[in-house]
Amino acid sequence: MRFQSPYENEQSVAIRRLLESKTPYSLACDRARPGPQWKLRQSLNGRFNGAGLRLPRGSQIFGYYLRYDDGLEFRVWSIMPSPGLAMSESESPYNVDHYIEDRREFFRRAWITLGFNGIDGDYAEFGCHSGRTFGLAYQEFQKAKSHLGFLPYIMERLFWALDSFKGLPSATGPEDSHPFWVEGTLATTRAEFEQICHNNGIAPSAYHIVEGFYADSLTESSAQLPDNICLAYIDCDMYSSIMTVLEFLLPRIKHGMILAFDDYFVYSRDQVSGARRACVRMLGDHPNWRILPYYQFAWGGLSFIVESKSVMPDSL
Ligand SMILES: C[S@@+](CC[C@H](N)C(=O)[O-])C[C@H]1O[C@@H](n2cnc3c(N)ncnc32)[C@H](O)[C@@H]1O
Repeated sequence: MRFQSPYENEQSVAIRRLLESKTPYSLACDRARPGPQWKLRQSLNGRFNGAGLRLPRGSQIFGYYLRYDDGLEFRVWSIMPSPGLAMSESESPYNVDHYIEDRREFFRRAWITLGFNGIDGDYAEFGCHSGRTFGLAYQEFQKAKSHLGFLPYIMERLFWALDSFKGLPSATGPEDSHPFWVEGTLATTRAEFEQICHNNGIAPSAYHIVEGFYADSLTESSAQLPDNICLAYIDCDMYSSIMTVLEFLLPRIKHGMILAFDDYFVYSRDQVSGARRACVRMLGDHPNWRILPYYQFAWGGLSFIVESKSVMPDSL
């Protein structure tokens, strides 16, 4: 069995060896839970069994996929320190995409920018899976609100979580292809997501869930959907998903709002990222709107501020 992923690191090797020694099947682990020690857990056809790997207190786990040339697929989770937890260089694992801190910094800036600029509206996350980004967005908003108390307009914002809660859909064309976009992966159930929100201190009244694949959920006329959005965080990976999201957002786009694409630089050998393709297609030459790069985060994310061409014409 030959290992193919270029993303293996010390932790994933250790996890893989442990798991290979137990059961060479599809593997998932649950998200970190508070406790004296968090346990990596192993899933076989949805059934969780303790794999017995003990992680340092405060560790965070996040996942990626390892694929083998015989078709065997591992979903391996990397371990990193929790925010605020000091770990020595030697025990600090390689943080593959600066998951927490870079995104936290993005939200810190975004909320201040939106608050200072008086841009009202809600937060909408398209692809909320592990709830990690959702939790960061919420926490940073709480901080921004307390820091921006001097402003005449303190924003109340609802947080919208839009997801299939069944993981990625099937690809609809070559533009969707990427070795890491695998149908049915990245699935968190709605109940799990609600539990995560609870663990993150997000009250049920502070957020709203829109469940379903976007092709259905965003076009359902009777569905309760976000309308006034100040920050859209688009993290649904695939071109076709992002296109559906942008089609939904286009009539709701407004001057000064922020559009963030978690996977803007997630190219593959023969494709540009779905986020970039969708942006160029939907907004590249729009008569009313222009998007201006705002803040790059992690290794793959880029956010934009929307400009109205009635405020800032192509040529002054
Ligand atoms: C990379 S994960 C999102 C990660 C998340 N932001 C977090 O912090 O954990 C991608 C998510 O997009 C969702 N998704 C992708 N395409 C979708 C579609 N067409 N409709 C609904 N959900 C979709 C998947 O279910 C998955 O939960």
